[in-house]
Amino acid sequence: MKDVIRQGRLSGERTQDIESFLSSMEADRFIAEPDLLVDMAHLLMLARQNIVPQEIASTLMKPLLTMFQEGVPDDAFDEQYEDIHAGIESGLTRKAGPEAGGRLHIGRSRNDEVATCIRIKTRNEVFEQLHAIIRLRRVLMNRARECTDTIMPGFTHLQHAQPTTLAHHLLAYEQAFGRDFSRLYDSLSRVNLSPLGAAAFASTGYPIDRKMTADMLGFDGLVLNTMDAVAGRDTAAEVLAADTLLLTTLSRFCEELVIWSSAFVKFVDLNEIYCSTSSIMPQKKNPDVAEILRSRAGSLLGEFVSAITITKGLPMSYNRDLQDLNPHLWRGITGIRRDIDLLAGMIRTARFDTDRMSEEAGKGFSTATELADQLVRQYDLPFRTAHHIVGHAVREGEMTIRTLDDAAVEVTGSSLTSRGLTQKIIDKALEPATGVAIRSAVGGPAPAAIKDAIKMREQVLSDDEAALLQRETTVEESIAGLIREAKRIADL
Ligand code: ARG
Repeated sequence: MKDVIRQGRLSGERTQDIESFLSSMEADRFIAEPDLLVDMAHLLMLARQNIVPQEIASTLMKPLLTMFQEGVPDDAFDEQYEDIHAGIESGLTRKAGPEAGGRLHIGRSRNDEVATCIRIKTRNEVFEQLHAIIRLRRVLMNRARECTDTIMPGFTHLQHAQPTTLAHHLLAYEQAFGRDFSRLYDSLSRVNLSPLGAAAFASTGYPIDRKMTADMLGFDGLVLNTMDAVAGRDTAAEVLAADTLLLTTLSRFCEELVIWSSAFVKFVDLNEIYCSTSSIMPQKKNPDVAEILRSRAGSLLGEFVSAITITKGLPMSYNRDLQDLNPHLWRGITGIRRDIDLLAGMIRTARFDTDRMSEEAGKGFSTATELADQLVRQYDLPFRTAHHIVGHAVREGEMTIRTLDDAAVEVTGSSLTSRGLTQKIIDKALEPATGVAIRSAVGGPAPAAIKDAIKMREQVLSDDEAALLQRETTVEESIAGLIREAKRIADL
């Protein structure tokens, strides 16, 4: 059947170029199912408000439910239709006849329809992503629990800086992913609002009930102003932005996995399922999954920039440019659940080389800070003085009692050996484990602090998960209720 929308106002045969240029079909695959939900909710509301007769609603609901159960048929995606909304309405009119089919669009426009579909699909993706972040954080927490005492070098400027624990390093990422979680979660309070009933932008004169359709579709409320409801895509951009930040955290972790798995670092042995080999060099085991994950943040940033740039100069209210944003949105957000799960799998199965880590922990005079701290504590020196003394010894290239005392004399004019400094005291301070154990301030790397941190973060994690499940259950129950009602009216 021809596009139901085009038959009145316009004439002329459009070329295939024009048709496929205008059509949003490819991107609309992501919103075909949400569109059916929107159709069902709208139809139910029209029936309840006596805007369409019950029998008509029943006639229309049957094919809608069939499509919902069996999937939207291929012919609805034909590019002769401008979009999936036209494709589904045309198919419906073919099945139910124009008398019934022609009434589905009473009191609405594709403008509020598509805006509603976008929010439903986006919300679903965000739910999936949030679950994946919870899984990832749990993996990090479990691995951290195994290595609260594993000493490793910590880096600044990618130079050995001070010893820390592997658990501290892993919990740093868990905490960052926790922030990524809350940013995405918070976006739901703006995403999960219903534009439906805004129609083209000025709402409608029919006695529709926007609150009713919003409830049926699991929204928390309305996008009140109907002009903003069809014009705004900032919530889509917000999710793209939050996801870009999330993938940036993920990318940084992947960069470390790439570095850590190289032969001159050798801190980690990645499971082979996450690696590829070379077509020419038979010995190669390359961290390809980590590399592509590292690049994903870059691609996503591109989608975000495209989306925001498309909207930035648009006047109120709906403009067709908005259609061009959707491919960026779907390309951007639909792969992210998978990305997070890949990283989680890679960390769960990674073998950390704790011997190599402890071997490196004290290198590059990385315990020099602790030695300076010891001098401060034991001899009541200003920190800067101790810093200079130890710095002199580092320049000499060794931390012996001789170099250190020479340095003390040079910096302060007096000896420290005369005040009881011994090689034993120096060696003790230079032990990586000594400096780690003493760094027990809240949030620090000491095993004791880590154990407390794990308890605190576990609480945050379970609170986050509970909040997510509650939100998701509310939506699922609404959708289940909508389907129940749709079935009831279909059987009338
Ligand atoms: N396919 C369109 C989109 O994605 C649906 C809205 C069409 N509205 C219009 N006024 N042409 O934006």
